[in-house]
Amino acid sequence: MPFYIGIHNGLCYGVFFDNTHKAYFNFGASNNRFSSFGADAGEMNYYLIHGNSVSEIIKQYTDLTGRMELPPRWSIGYQQCRYSYYPDKEVFTIAKTFREKDIPADAIVFDIHYMDKYKIFTWDQERFSDPKGLMQTLKDQGFHAVVMCDPGIKVEPGYETYDAGVKNDIFLKYPDGENYQGQVWPGWCHFPDFTNPKARAWWATKFQDYVNLGVDGFWNDMNEIATWGNALPENLEFDFEGNKATMRRGRNVYGFQMARSTYEGTKKLLKGKRPFNLTRSGFSGIQRYSAVWTGDNVAYDEHMLLGVRLVNSMGLTGVAFAGYDAGGFVGESNPKLFARWMSIASLSPFFRAHTMINTRDSEPWSYGEEVESICRNYIKFRYQLLPYIYSLFYDAAKRGMPVQRSLAIDYTHDHRVYNNLYHNQYLLGPSILVAPAESNQQLLKIFFPSGNWYDLYSGKVWAGNQETIVESPIHKLPVFIKAGSVLPMQHSAAHTGVKQDELILHIYCGNEASDFLLYLDDGETFDYQSGKSSTRLIQMNGFENKVTISASEGDFTSSYTKIKIVLHGSPADKILVNGHSLALTHHVHSFFSPLEKYDPINEPDSMGEENVRETSTEYTVEKIELSWS
Ligand code: GLC
Repeated sequence: MPFYIGIHNGLCYGVFFDNTHKAYFNFGASNNRFSSFGADAGEMNYYLIHGNSVSEIIKQYTDLTGRMELPPRWSIGYQQCRYSYYPDKEVFTIAKTFREKDIPADAIVFDIHYMDKYKIFTWDQERFSDPKGLMQTLKDQGFHAVVMCDPGIKVEPGYETYDAGVKNDIFLKYPDGENYQGQVWPGWCHFPDFTNPKARAWWATKFQDYVNLGVDGFWNDMNEIATWGNALPENLEFDFEGNKATMRRGRNVYGFQMARSTYEGTKKLLKGKRPFNLTRSGFSGIQRYSAVWTGDNVAYDEHMLLGVRLVNSMGLTGVAFAGYDAGGFVGESNPKLFARWMSIASLSPFFRAHTMINTRDSEPWSYGEEVESICRNYIKFRYQLLPYIYSLFYDAAKRGMPVQRSLAIDYTHDHRVYNNLYHNQYLLGPSILVAPAESNQQLLKIFFPSGNWYDLYSGKVWAGNQETIVESPIHKLPVFIKAGSVLPMQHSAAHTGVKQDELILHIYCGNEASDFLLYLDDGETFDYQSGKSSTRLIQMNGFENKVTISASEGDFTSSYTKIKIVLHGSPADKILVNGHSLALTHHVHSFFSPLEKYDPINEPDSMGEENVRETSTEYTVEKIELSWS
C-alpha cells in the first residue's frame, strides 16, 4: 500500500502515491529534515491528504480508494483451517467435535488437498467422493466452507480449465507471445492475466461448480505471484486494462485484480448472497474486494505480536478486515503460545487458526484441557460481542474506519503511543483496549490512554494517562473497557446463524459521554444496500447516568425482542434508560468468565461480581419502541 500518514507538530497528513511500480519510502532522510518517496518508473502521481485527525485522513483515503461492502456475518465468526483437512471423514470429525465440545465456529477451510493434484476447480474424487453431500452436512451443522483458489493453472492438455484458458488466450505472456510458465503446487503452470478484463471475466465464471455445491467462501493465495525458486521475469507482458505494460508495472496489482475477479464473479453467481473473499496479496483499495491475511507466519511469540502490528497498520491503510494465522503456520506451536494467540486473535477482525502440513494438530482442543477451556472462553466472548463487532464492520463499510485500531488513531498526539513498549496495543472499535502479551509473560507494562478503563475480568477501574504494570496470566489476556461506553452484546451460540432474541447492553459507567451506532441487518444478503437494515444510536451520558437508545432507522426488523441491561460500576442505584428509571436490584455474574485457575471439576463462572449489577426489569423491544415515538 503506497500510503502513509505523517504526524508532526500537532498536525497530520496523508500521502497516497498512486503508482504500481516498485516504490521507495524513506523516513530517515537528512536527519529528519524531510522524508522522500519515489518509484522505479511511472508518474509522480500522488495525493496529499489534509485532515485534522488520523480518522479524517483514513476517511479521505478510503474515499479515494474505496471501502468494503459488508462481509457475510458468518465470516467474522471463528474459522478453522489447516493445510489440509482431508479426506472428507476428517472434515466431518472436526465439524462434529466443535459442536460436541461446545466451541463456537462458523467455517471450515479447505486448503489445497481437496483438489485433484492441486488443479484449481477440481475435487480429488477419492478423498472427497461426494462434495455436495459434504457441503450439505456442514451446512446442516451451521458451517460454511471456504475453498483455496490458486492462480497457477496446471499445464496439462485435457484439463478443462487449462484448455479453456489457452483457447480464450487469457494467460500472461512473454513479449514473443508464448505463455509464461512458472512452477507452483501443481507443477508447471500458466497464470491468468488478471489485469486483462477478458481474463477476469473468464475466471469469474469458473466458480459456478463451487457455488452449486454450496461453497460461499473463497481464498486467493500465492497471488504475488509466488513461484518456486524464481522471480517473475521482468519482461512479462501484462494487459493492464488495454495499456500493455511489463511485469514491473503489472505485478503489484496482480493479486488485487485476482481477488477482484474472484469477488465479482462469486458475488454474481451467489445471486444476492454475500461471498467471503480472502487474499494474501493486494494493493491500495483491496478492501473493496477482499479480506487480507498476513501470510505464512512462524509459531513464535515474535510473529504473534508482529501479526498484531501488521493488522494495526493495515487498518490505517483502509483494510479493516484483516487477520493472521492464529497459532502460527510454520513450525510447532505449544500450549501456551496457542492459547495466547487464540485469545488475541479472538479480538482481531479476521479470526482463523491455521497450520502447515506435517505439523501437530492445532484445533482448540489439541493442546490439552486447560488450553481448550481458554480457547472456548475467548471464542465465546467473540460470539457474545458479535453485535458490537458487526457494527464495527458497518463503520468500516461506511467511513473506512478499521475494526482493529492503532492507538495512533484516537490518541494521535500522545507521544507514548509511539513507544515500542506499547506498539502492540490496540483498540477493538472505540471501547475495547487490548494489550497483547507474550505467551510466557505474567506481567505486562501497558499504557492506559486518557479516560478510565475497566478491567474486563475484575471490573477494577484503572485511571488513564498512565503507564503501569498489569497481570497477564495465560488465561487472562489484558483487556479493558473504556469507561463511559456501551457494548451491545448477545448470548454466545454455536455459530453466528443462530437467531437470538435478547440484546444485552453492557454499560460501563463513567464521567464521559459516548455514542455507539448499533447496526443490524440480515447478515447474508445485499438487501441492506436498498435500505433493509437497522441503525440505532446508543448514547451514554455518564454525568447524569442516562442512556438513550434511539428508535430504529431503516427497514429491517431484527430477531431481538428483549433488551437486557447490565451496568458496570454504577455509582447510583438507578439509571435512566429512555426516560424510564430502572432500579438496580440484584447482582449478576460477570458476562465473561475466564478461568481464574483451571479446575475442570469446579470451574468458577463468575468474577468481579461486586462490579456488575443487572436491572431486574427486562423490556421488550416493542415496549421501549412505544416510549421512543
Ligand atoms: C501458502 C499459504 C498457506 C497455505 C499453503 C498451502 O503457503 O500462505 O496458508 O496453507 O500455501 O496452500
